[in-house]
Amino acid sequence: MAGGIAAYKSCYLVRRLAAAGHQVRVVPTEAALNFVGRPTWEALSGHPVHTGVFDDVPGVEHVRLGGEADLVVVAPATADLLARVAAGRADDLLTATVLATRAPVLMAPAMHTAMWQNPATRDNVATLRRRGIVVKDPAVGRLTGPDSGPGRLPEPDELAELAEFLLECPGAAAQLAGQDLSGRRVVVTAGGTREALDPVRYLGNSSSGRMGRALALLAAARGADVTLVAAHVDVPAPSAIEQVAISSTEDLSAAMTELAPDADIVVMAVAAADFTPVSRSQLKIKKHEGADPIGARTRIDLTQTPDVLAAISAARRPGQVIVGFAAETAPDRDALLELAAAKLARKGCDLLAVNDVSAGKVFGMVDTDVTVVRQQGPGRRVMGSKMLAAQAILDEARSLLAPAPDAPAS
Ligand code: CTP
Repeated sequence: MAGGIAAYKSCYLVRRLAAAGHQVRVVPTEAALNFVGRPTWEALSGHPVHTGVFDDVPGVEHVRLGGEADLVVVAPATADLLARVAAGRADDLLTATVLATRAPVLMAPAMHTAMWQNPATRDNVATLRRRGIVVKDPAVGRLTGPDSGPGRLPEPDELAELAEFLLECPGAAAQLAGQDLSGRRVVVTAGGTREALDPVRYLGNSSSGRMGRALALLAAARGADVTLVAAHVDVPAPSAIEQVAISSTEDLSAAMTELAPDADIVVMAVAAADFTPVSRSQLKIKKHEGADPIGARTRIDLTQTPDVLAAISAARRPGQVIVGFAAETAPDRDALLELAAAKLARKGCDLLAVNDVSAGKVFGMVDTDVTVVRQQGPGRRVMGSKMLAAQAILDEARSLLAPAPDAPAS
């Protein structure tokens, strides 16, 4: 890490990656040690920490660290560090490591907004991305001083997710560095809707919002302009993306009527209730109300909600890609794919990401087993993290997009 105040957040990043079983070597710049001292990094990583190319000459660390790494993460990356790497310098152990590695490099810049927006920094970021280095846009929010804007280091969990994704799928570095969804508008819906019964009770479901979070995080990392329409979720929204909070399927319908027409890709990862109570009681429902004579049963009348996915699929314009999700319980894979094909046809969307949730599988879990089916051609199965599934879904969606207006003719 380079010398920025955000270095304190990297303590948690190191701890999280080490706790996940990764061998982490910390390479701070001399300036970084002004913010967090060497003993902290040595304790968190369990390895000695050096900053200079002459600190361990027999170990040839300036080449060995980069050579042995599966991934190099620079967090925080200051404006000065970006400039030095863009210039190909190798005057300390960190820049030498970045220059010597053949592994993917993930940089997380953090600096004042004015420095981030300075043309010199913009040029350096463009140069680094052109060379295949993944540069994560900083989060927007309160900076070290009283002002706020883009320049914050994203939360360590978000960086860890991206880092683990690059370890799982090193080939994706090219898409992230190349910003292959730049200029595209992507709307992702996530979480579970809630249909209110009275002021304190609702009908809901156990969707965690993790899949939607992974999709939004990855689409933004690939350069898309992302809006996350979030129902009830257990996870924070990724940084630097617009978020619209909703609660019920009716809210979802209203939000998507407004947002879908301008989107290039819409991904409906939200678990939307198909039914809602016919009426919502303004007062808390009492136990005796509506109960049968022995009080053991009651009834709730439900009415169907609008099918948002079917509506936006029917209204889509040429070149726009609509992706639906389906969580199914099926006795075997053939039955699962049959259900998926029928649902794809019924909804009229371009792609359907289907997963088998028999016996409580997948919902809220870190790993997933998703098959992406399309109107024509075979499905694509992905087993791995939700980020890996998100990558496959975005790849499939991108392949169906109309060419961007400014894309060179091929
Ligand atoms: N969906 C939607 N509007 C609804 C319900 C669902 O847009 N009122 C979307 C979900 O976000 C998901 C897809 O439709 O992308 C499939 O949801 P699902 O509940 O599986 O669809 P249903 O048509 O309700 O199918 P089933 O009868 O299997 O429940």
